[in-house]
Amino acid sequence: MTTLLINIKELIQVRNSDVKKVSGSEMKTLPTIKNAYLLIENDIITDFGSMENVPQSADKKIDCSGKMILPTWCDSHTHIVYAGNREQEFVDRINGLTYEEIANNGGGILNSAKKLQSTSEEDLYKQSAKRLEEVIALGTGAVEIKSGYGLTVDAEIKMLRVIKKLKENYNLPIKATFLGAHAFPSEFKNNKEGYINLIINEMLPKVAEENLAEFVDAFCETGYFSVDDTDRILSAAQSYGLIPKVHVNQFTTIGGVQVSVKHNALSVDHLEIMNTEDINALKGSETMPVALPSCSYFLSIPYTPARDIIEAGLPLALATDFNPGSTPSGNMNFVVATACIKMKMTPEEAINAATINGAYAMNLSDEVGSITKGKKANFIITKEIPSYGFIPYSFGSNLIDDVYLNGKKI
Ligand code: NIG
Ligand code: FE
Repeated sequence: MTTLLINIKELIQVRNSDVKKVSGSEMKTLPTIKNAYLLIENDIITDFGSMENVPQSADKKIDCSGKMILPTWCDSHTHIVYAGNREQEFVDRINGLTYEEIANNGGGILNSAKKLQSTSEEDLYKQSAKRLEEVIALGTGAVEIKSGYGLTVDAEIKMLRVIKKLKENYNLPIKATFLGAHAFPSEFKNNKEGYINLIINEMLPKVAEENLAEFVDAFCETGYFSVDDTDRILSAAQSYGLIPKVHVNQFTTIGGVQVSVKHNALSVDHLEIMNTEDINALKGSETMPVALPSCSYFLSIPYTPARDIIEAGLPLALATDFNPGSTPSGNMNFVVATACIKMKMTPEEAINAATINGAYAMNLSDEVGSITKGKKANFIITKEIPSYGFIPYSFGSNLIDDVYLNGKKI
């Protein structure tokens, strides 16, 4: 079955298959073809080019006059699997409490863990599937999902099984990350060593045995997991073949970037607080820095210094961080707009960061993230828009007409 999309006003992010990520000044360039066609065969992109060379035959033709096509967003950092919500903490913050104070009073991650532990796997699946469907409709075509709201052996496994079931039932690449090291449960408040041992000796072997995760994460932060804790957990996880993607530098800079680079992390995420040493540590590494601007927006914390990172010649990816506490939103369109508005990224940089670099941050550069022959036919058809810069410019508007996953309209 071949489908030919014709008269595309602009086909965005066309790349050769050898481009796995874009860094530094390369991020300013977003390759496009104006007045283009796109040919797909079943679930794969097989050809594209200028309308002057459009092929004549196809099983189905779709006219895209006035509309643009871009690859679906690649959201490389989410916590979509969670139980219930935390809107009371949102109100508490409006009334003056800080995120840290709420966490110290037993709220925050521990509040979500309590809810998740008493939620059945079926109910957790239903709640999570609903969120996944919402983000797909918003143009996300590949997503990473973390555990980390279980914090017991059983509840962490429950979360990861829900992610596995989402993978089986939804038609997009989903990558699972084990984040047992998200917070210390209250019963381990005075026995941190005990919880780290539980992660290393009980959780990790089970995760590996059931093959439930590809990546490992830790919240490396003052008051959470120290650099030394993170070092030990990443080492143990790597002995099971798990690749690190690490929460670092959200509130303080304590060496999280350096320890992640030492372990060849695929990505370091958050990076709201960065000093020169942190940026230098990333130079020459294969680790993708990932910014989460919706989290900065929601918590009113600093934005990741995108300009400093890009001007140092580094790549940068953008993701949502969709979770019940710091970012109850999985909208990548908002992320792209906020990156332009608040982080001074150009539309070209932001779209590169949310597509090809996001794909890299999930080890999916060979499958998604660009309009490339042989990649999955996962793409967004926009409404009629004057330019692609209009996407971040009209923040908050829904400019998506259709989302295609594996060549099929959602
Ligand atoms: O990435 N920073 C750590 N974890 C999540 C938020 C956790 C929560 O508040 O539930 C994040 O922002
Ligand atoms: Fe996160």
